[in-house]
This record gives sequence, structure tokens and C-alpha cells, in this order.
Amino acid sequence: MNIRINNGFQSNTTTLDQPIVVTGAAGFIGSHTTDELLSLGHRVVGVDDLSTGRIGNLGESMRNERFEFVKADVAGPEMMDWLCQRYQPAAIIHLAGLVSVVAAQENPGRNYRLNLHATQQVAEAARSCGVSRVVFASSAATYGNTLALPVSEETPTRPEGLYGSCKLASEHLLQGYASSFDLEVVCLRYFNVYGSRQTGDSPYAGVISKFVEGFSSGNGVTVFGDGRQSRDFIHVRDVARANALAATVPLELRTLVANVCTGRQQSLNEVLSVFGNLFPHAPAPRRETARRGEILHSCGDPAIAKRHLGFQARTTLDEGLRHLIDHSGISISA
Ligand SMILES: NC(=O)c1ccc[n+]([C@@H]2O[C@H](COP(=O)([O-])OP(=O)(O)OC[C@H]3O[C@@H](n4cnc5c(N)ncnc54)[C@H](O)[C@@H]3O)[C@@H](O)[C@H]2O)c1
Repeated sequence: MNIRINNGFQSNTTTLDQPIVVTGAAGFIGSHTTDELLSLGHRVVGVDDLSTGRIGNLGESMRNERFEFVKADVAGPEMMDWLCQRYQPAAIIHLAGLVSVVAAQENPGRNYRLNLHATQQVAEAARSCGVSRVVFASSAATYGNTLALPVSEETPTRPEGLYGSCKLASEHLLQGYASSFDLEVVCLRYFNVYGSRQTGDSPYAGVISKFVEGFSSGNGVTVFGDGRQSRDFIHVRDVARANALAATVPLELRTLVANVCTGRQQSLNEVLSVFGNLFPHAPAPRRETARRGEILHSCGDPAIAKRHLGFQARTTLDEGLRHLIDHSGISISA
């Protein structure tokens, strides 16, 4: 079981003046999380080494006097410690990591450093500086390829590769810190996140950002298999809201693991049909044989996040894709 209930435990709420540290702030989810926190009036310290993130993602935040940016490697010796000593944050939202499942398989050492060792640095800095709460960017990859859908936090975790196994090990490490020290931990298992600022040009990009790239460039897209494979696609603004709630709401638990998902299963063919409406002149998708080992269906149960964080995804796929196209500066009459 992933959730430990401490009866009678009620945590403190965050004050607006004590900052929240966001690691990976210049990345896709990090920059939206920073925007969300600033819009709620929080002070934010964003940390990023700009390895995959872009300072341009923080355009508006950089002009906000409640935001500070620190370019640093969070896995580096004592960096997180220095940061926590200097800023005395109320919470850390730890998003920095190696995001690509493929890159993690190709470079196990880098995966270990970014997806597990960095978590240790964050946890230790939080403990030694008295930070109240750590929110960790975990993943649906911790479940592996499970047939029983939707997956709840009670579903056994069987990660199939190095990315998912380091995410799960990070969750366990943080839970060990929470049970040993005065620290609350929220591990959020994101499902398939999409939205603006996600890079579509890399071979590691998610399917929706690849579709945006293919449709908007006029090059078209390739679908592997019959397109009936499905995912629980969640818009990044919803994920940013979940992160902000996880960092700030009073908790009844010292350790919480929660899916961040919509609870809706949507097929690639459904996604293609929304794109088809937005780009009526685009070439028909190329069809290729299914890729070996690809998970066919994935869908999460959102009940725990709703119960403990008051979080529910609001953006429909249609709204989310339209918002993404609008914010990508793409002309949809092309
Ligand atoms: N995008 C998804 O669908 C998804 C799904 C599940 C989990 N996640 C997790 O969410 C988190 C954020 O993912 P994202 O999609 O925004 O990816 P991203 O690559 O856009 O963001 C990661 C950020 O971390 C920074 N970073 C990497 N290593 C660093 C280091 N050592 N020190 C400081 N900064 C560093 C990068 O420069 C980048 O800005 C990751 O931990 C990822 O594993 C993402």
C-alpha cells in the first residue's frame, strides 16, 4: 500500500511570503507550475540547469518581482542545501529530472543521477533546513503495463524500465524521509501530460507534441498500429494546478501518493480526429505496424487526488488541443 494514514495529523498551510522552490522550473511542467503559483500570489524560486528547459518558457515570470531564477544543477553537491538555507522555502516542488523513458534506457547512469540521486539531494536539504513539504514529480510509469484499468494507487507497482524504477525508488526514499523526520511528502503520478512549451522536435517527444509538429509543418504524422491504443491525456495547466495544491493545501496524511490524471481513456484515433478538424487540409496519417512493447492502454483513477488535494482535471481534450495550437503560434487554416 502506498498511502500511510496518520490519524490526527493535520499539517500547516503555506504562507504567501515564504517562497516555494520549483526545480526544473524552465521546463514544460515547471514553467506552467511557476505561472500558476505566481498567479496565486506565491513567491517562487525557480531552479534549472537549462539542460532541456528554456529560459524563454519563463518569459512572464522573469518580469514578476515575486520570482527569482537560479541556474544550477540540483544533483550537484550541496546545491539544494545552499538553496534551502538561502531561501528558507515552505515547500519544494521537485520536477527536474530525465524525462525520456528511451533516454533513461540508453543512459542508466544519467537516469540514476537525475531521477534518484537528485531526489536524495532534495530530501536531505528539506530535512536539514526544516522545509515542511516536498512534492515529487512521479509517473504512471511506476505501474508498468497493467491490464486492470483504471489504475488506482492501490494497483501493484511493476515498473518495466529504468525510468519507472527510479521514479518508484524516489517515492520510497521520500516516504522513508517522511516517516523518519518532520517532512510531508506528496508524490504525484502524472499520466500523459500535453500542452504548450512541450518540445515536439525531439525523438523523445510525447505523441501529442509530435502530432502538433507533423500537422503544423504539413509533413503529416505516423501512427503505429491501428490507432486504438489509448492514453489518459491531461493538460499541463491542470497538472500545474495539481502541483500548486499539493504544495499548499493542508494534508491529513504525512505521505500521499496520488494519480494526476483525468480518468478518461482517449484513443489516438480520437486525438487524430480533433487534429483533423483543426487542420482539414493535412495529409492523411501514415500507418505503420505497431511498435513492440508499446503499452496499449493507460488510464488512471483520479479519486485520491480529488479526496486529499481537492484536485480535478478541468480541461477537455478538445479544449486542451485548441489551447495548445493557439499558444504555439500556428495558423490552423494552413
Ligand atoms: N511530461 C510528462 O508527460 C511527464 C509524465 C510523468 C512524469 N513527468 C515528470 O515531470 C517532470 C517534469 O517533466 P517535463 O515534461 O516538464 O520535462 P522537461 O524536460 O521539460 O523539464 C525538466 C526540467 O528539468 C531541468 N533539469 C534536468 N536536469 C536538471 C538538473 N540536474 N538540475 C536542474 N535542472 C535540471 C531541465 O532543464 C528541464 O527544464 C519530470 O520529473 C518528469 O519525469 C513528466
